[in-house]
Amino acid sequence: MVNSQFQLYLAPFQGITDAVYRTSLARWFGGVNAVFTPYISGTGVEKVSKNKLVDVMPLANQGVRTIPQMLSKDAGEMLLLGKALADLGYTEANWNLGCPFPRVANKKRGSGLLPFPEMVRAILETLFNSDFPLQLSVKMRTGYFDHSEVFEMLETLQQFPITEITMHPRTGKQLYSGDASESAFADAEALTQLPLVWNGDIFTVSKWHHLSLKFPRVDRWMIGRGALMNPALPLAIADYDAYCQIDNIKALAAFLNDIYQVTYARNEGRSVVVSRMKAVWVYLCHSFSDPVNAFRLIRKTRTPDDYLDAERRVLNEFELVRL
Ligand SMILES: Cc1cc2nc3c(=O)[nH]c(=O)nc-3n(C[C@H](O)[C@H](O)[C@H](O)COP(=O)(O)O)c2cc1C
Repeated sequence: MVNSQFQLYLAPFQGITDAVYRTSLARWFGGVNAVFTPYISGTGVEKVSKNKLVDVMPLANQGVRTIPQMLSKDAGEMLLLGKALADLGYTEANWNLGCPFPRVANKKRGSGLLPFPEMVRAILETLFNSDFPLQLSVKMRTGYFDHSEVFEMLETLQQFPITEITMHPRTGKQLYSGDASESAFADAEALTQLPLVWNGDIFTVSKWHHLSLKFPRVDRWMIGRGALMNPALPLAIADYDAYCQIDNIKALAAFLNDIYQVTYARNEGRSVVVSRMKAVWVYLCHSFSDPVNAFRLIRKTRTPDDYLDAERRVLNEFELVRL
């Protein structure tokens, strides 16, 4: 179930929103018009190795519009990856100018590129003069050190055929502290004609409603942690009646079963599947009104069987929050 007045996107999370996570969320809950993959990086300029593309193989990404994301400051690398993605049938990609983590940003990648508009210009000039084969969108923060960096960056970006910009209005230095800044987003919006996607702190239907009234020109919304906590949140925003009609526990069980089965089948070891499910539950426990105790049950499991018992107990015994 999706709506036609606005678009809802699922944000990318390295280590969590892999192909089975994205497609199963779309399948069992719905509400998302598109999903973004966690960034692909370090692909080099010679040949994109197959293991970098595992998560974007078309067969594993059926049923929902999937937008692969790249993290790079090297136009040659982006061109080669773009061609590999085009060969897989993709027509669009997203460029990450938002990742705040020091090991990325200190190398002038992700949000670390935001203070350097000339570098961004040079990369985009090379890409668009070299038949980059995909439509390109950008996902960014409003700055690395300071929100004011967004102005020069937007002026640079809009000289190129960028399709849309997802804007998370925090600086890179902030990581996740403080609130996503509505005033920094408003300042950016006033400056650009490019379609902007709001991304940040949409945890409830009422927060989305507040933002949609505050930013009437925005018709694209990216939901991250809010959807990881409550996979039904996009549906509740897109169509509240449809949300009221789904069996949320059944949908959660099916969603978790998909993730568990696919991870188990990779056969990387029994502890891998358990730690993968725990990473999902770090957020997902907030679907329940007693998240601390729900997560405690999951956290103490060591074997797949223990995990499955704990999952069953949480789904059967804990009360869901109402969105
Ligand atoms: C563990 C983790 C991994 C993330 N991985 C990515 C990523 O690969 N690419 C990206 O653009 N953003 C990534 N993000 C940022 C989210 O996509 C999103 O922009 C951020 O959480 C803000 O949105 P929210 O407030 O709705 O959660 C990541 C965030 C976290 C916490």
